Amino acid sequence: MISKQMEETLNKQMNRELFSAYLYLAMSAYFETAIMKGFAKWMRLQAKEEEAHALKFYDFIIARGGKVSFLPIESPKTNWTSTGKVFEHAYVHEQKVTSLINSLVELAIKEKDHATFEMLQWFVKEQVEEEAQANEILSKIKTFGDIPGKLFYLDHELGKRE
Ligand SMILES: [Fe+2]
Ligand SMILES: [Fe+2]
Repeated sequence: MISKQMEETLNKQMNRELFSAYLYLAMSAYFETAIMKGFAKWMRLQAKEEEAHALKFYDFIIARGGKVSFLPIESPKTNWTSTGKVFEHAYVHEQKVTSLINSLVELAIKEKDHATFEMLQWFVKEQVEEEAQANEILSKIKTFGDIPGKLFYLDHELGKRE
């Protein structure tokens, strides 16, 4: 069993993961409009990953005898002024998600909820990757973005994501 507070917090996190999927899909749509197909594909796959994160919480809540709640999903921002701004947003967003995961871990420790603590360790590791990934692409854009053709090269590179 999980506590009522834990159930509520896990449900909120499931909702945040769905919001993340929404946000990355909005970023994908932005790149589609800009005919940057590689960036669009990368973001669409990122949205899929976030959906999988949401389902991990969904499955866990059910496995622990909790009730899944379907909270409204916030509308994401849909417009940015540049490719760099999109990745700045993604990077800041992932940092926020990391702090939410950390708060969840702290709650699990406080409640001596070992099962939730163990499940969350996957997310702790995942967030290290998520932040590093967004930061790496952002750094590439900052370093090469002004050189003509480099953004198209990066678009080509990101389009290779499977
Ligand atoms: Fe996530
Ligand atoms: Fe993420």
